[in-house]
Amino acid sequence: MIILITVLILIMVYILWQKWELTKFCVTTYQIHSNKIKKTAVAAVISDLHGFSYGLGNEQLLEQVKNIKPQVILIPGDMLVSKDSKTYDTAYETLKELIKIAPVYYSYGNHESRLRDPERINHPKFLQYLNKLRALGVAILETETREISLGENRVMLSGLELELEFYEKGGIPPMEDSYMKERLKMQKEELFQILLAHNPAYAEQYAAWGADITFCGHNHGGLIRIPGIGSLVSPQLTLFPKYDAGKFQIGRNCVIVSRGLGTHTFHVRIFNRAELISVEFLPQ
Ligand SMILES: [Fe+2]
Repeated sequence: MIILITVLILIMVYILWQKWELTKFCVTTYQIHSNKIKKTAVAAVISDLHGFSYGLGNEQLLEQVKNIKPQVILIPGDMLVSKDSKTYDTAYETLKELIKIAPVYYSYGNHESRLRDPERINHPKFLQYLNKLRALGVAILETETREISLGENRVMLSGLELELEFYEKGGIPPMEDSYMKERLKMQKEELFQILLAHNPAYAEQYAAWGADITFCGHNHGGLIRIPGIGSLVSPQLTLFPKYDAGKFQIGRNCVIVSRGLGTHTFHVRIFNRAELISVEFLPQ
């Protein structure tokens, strides 16, 4: 009887904990110093929203983004859930408000890339979604580089869309050394280089390509995090992924992996709070 009561209490605690952890997010702040940055500027990074809404119309998320006072909003993918077209509406409504705060730059995750396939049932809805975003003025980066303003700085911003084979489950498919350079020509190396690349498994390739800073998502923090150790499993079902969440210094360059804001399929977060990222860029 005591065992049964203990199990029931543990189940109740788990349910309440998950209800709490899945509906709250925190703001994680990073400072990045570079001699290519002349004036302090701030970016907000929103990753893996997956159509989730914090309050009505994502009001809690929007309020926190406003508090950051970003000069740009960067999105390294997975704003929606490919199978669930209702999430496109949430993503669109959120982006409609975000672009009133600052210019928005959006690079695809695997969920967006999947929807490029005309055979997908939701492909037409995805095209409508993209058209509506373009009409709003959201800059969609489909493996391309643009020179943009980051506050009073001019910087280069690239978006990398990986082929779906790089998301295959059960391992990390190798990436050729030439892959990055073939897809994204490094331009104006004297300027600070920002890269949006959804899958953090290739963090070393992004840094080697020359991105001063890369923003990734995809891992959702690994769903379950073990304090002091990190993520238990990646979405590609690799155990203890190296680039799970947080900031990684790779040589002179840096990769920041977001724990994301939403979930899909497995709605679990243990020791793994969702996060909005604020990045302050400062002169060296
Ligand atoms: Fe993803």
